[in-house]
Amino acid sequence: MHRFHYRNDTLYAEDVPVGEAARRFGTPLYLYSHGTIVDHYLKIKEAFREVEPLICFSMKANSSSAVLASLVKRGAGLDIVSGGELYRSRRVKCPASRIVYASVGKREDEIDEAIRAGILLFNVESEPELRMINRRAHARRKKVMVTLRLNPDVEAHTHHYITTGKSENKFGLDFNTARAIIRFSNRYKNVDIAGVHIHIGSQITEAQPFVAAIRKTLRFIDTLGVVIRYFNIGGGMGIVYDKERPQGANEFAAKVLPLFEDRDFKLILEPGRFIVGNSGILVTRVVYIKKSASGKHFAIVDAGMNDLIRPSLYSAYHEILPVDCPRQAGGARSRRTVKYDVVGPICESGDFLGKDRVLPELKEGDLLAVMGAGAYGYAMSSNYNSRPRLPEVMVIKNRVHLVRPRETYADLVRGEKVPKGI
Ligand code: LLP
Repeated sequence: MHRFHYRNDTLYAEDVPVGEAARRFGTPLYLYSHGTIVDHYLKIKEAFREVEPLICFSMKANSSSAVLASLVKRGAGLDIVSGGELYRSRRVKCPASRIVYASVGKREDEIDEAIRAGILLFNVESEPELRMINRRAHARRKKVMVTLRLNPDVEAHTHHYITTGKSENKFGLDFNTARAIIRFSNRYKNVDIAGVHIHIGSQITEAQPFVAAIRKTLRFIDTLGVVIRYFNIGGGMGIVYDKERPQGANEFAAKVLPLFEDRDFKLILEPGRFIVGNSGILVTRVVYIKKSASGKHFAIVDAGMNDLIRPSLYSAYHEILPVDCPRQAGGARSRRTVKYDVVGPICESGDFLGKDRVLPELKEGDLLAVMGAGAYGYAMSSNYNSRPRLPEVMVIKNRVHLVRPRETYADLVRGEKVPKGI
């Protein structure tokens, strides 16, 4: 459950009217509910309490320092995928012993940085990568722990762009390759193969694909005859954007935990979206209302695909709500609704936040909230069309904190040079 709700027809984030934050910080604006973030993290932690897992928040979903800091402070680790994410984790003082590092393309310099930092585990995705980690660890006279990311080849029933556990995906090692690596593990003297990792995809709303992947992986492990200390089950737990009915943390744990009974693994989880997805909204203002010759109504808003790319990229659905429900002269709620395409200012037809949305009749200046924008929202935003990136604010009970300022035009050209004689 998130903490965005209406009071007297006005949308609130915890105890703050969203409109107030929008007036203070301008639009478009990312707004997070701190209470929701913490709540969702604790839900997973509680559900898995009996095995005391390491919960590594997948920071690619939202790498804002304020978000990271509040999770790290509560005991979360971080799942990173780049040198930049390692830098951010260190900046929020995440103990290295709680950092795991996945990515099919870890560069030599990134591996060096992670070894130097002393992270807990590298999630290894290929043999050449394992050789590289071994070489770099050797150069530093260290032995580093890794988990092998296995590709269990299961169907995750989600958008094909965010399916990762099928054999045709670029991720992980197939079982045969993994078996060969373990068989010849003495070739990697500076590496301790401490466990396995799987991550089968994202926005998965049922437990069944996870269960299938874990079962398959356990069966595989049992054929290896080696001691496995860490089992990382990845992230991917789905949330409600529209009419989904995803499993909650308790249901998920109830399906997953029995699979690990009698096993002496340290369990690692890497949730991203589950923790932050419904904790954030994108607040945008209607710039113009336009009617096309075909009779279509467009609400042209000040946020675009550069600010939230999910609708354009994955045809993802995000609920769009009016921040203030309009009232008629007598004070009654206006009943007149119109079907709008809510579109941004970017010069692309694919620039939309929502299509065919029935909303109270809008006028210029009205505020809209694009819900479920806390995961892969700001994190995937860009400067396309030379649009400064948005500010992020975090609501904690009845206070709003600016946690990242809006970029300026000067930020857009920082470091750019025009060579002489061009
Ligand atoms: N672990 C690994 C190894 C991952 O690759 C991912 C996400 C996660 C954990 C976290 O997954 P989550 O719990 O958030 O589902 N941009 C897409 C999602 C891409 C997910 C990439 N990997 C979207 O906006 O739907």
